[in-house]
Amino acid sequence: MQITKFLAVALLANGVVADLTFRAICTMLDMNFVQAYVNDKNTTTIACNRYKERNTGDKQHDKCPDCFMDTNGVSEFCHSPGEHIGEKEWGQYCEEAGADSNFSQGK
Ligand SMILES: *[C@@H]1O[C@H](CO)[C@@H](O)[C@H](O)[C@H]1NC(C)=O
Ligand SMILES: *[C@@H]1O[C@H](CO)[C@@H](O)[C@H](O)[C@H]1NC(C)=O
Repeated sequence: MQITKFLAVALLANGVVADLTFRAICTMLDMNFVQAYVNDKNTTTIACNRYKERNTGDKQHDKCPDCFMDTNGVSEFCHSPGEHIGEKEWGQYCEEAGADSNFSQGK
């Protein structure tokens, strides 16, 4: 659990953000751990599944047929190898899923 939190914090500190991203997480404010936003598996999973079903047009971020939860690593992310996750759109899905904030990373 601690390792997961450190990973999420390290990623947040990394701060690499593009318009379209290939991996993304929803985060919750964790008061027990330096009050940082940490990866929240529940809301990330909900947002990832909803984004996969998204079909709002023909732009790259309008559909995400390759969105999937990567649960193999220490931390869990919503992945899109083809970079179909739009940064703003992802944030909206996280918010709808009940997350406090969100983070996404480009290639
Ligand atoms: C996450 O989901 C599990 C299973 O649905 C639930 O038991 C747990 O309370 C949830 N955790 C949070 C922080 O909402
Ligand atoms: C998603 O995260 C970004 C960066 O922290 C933030 O600016 C944005 O308000 C968040 N979006 C939502 C809907 O919470």
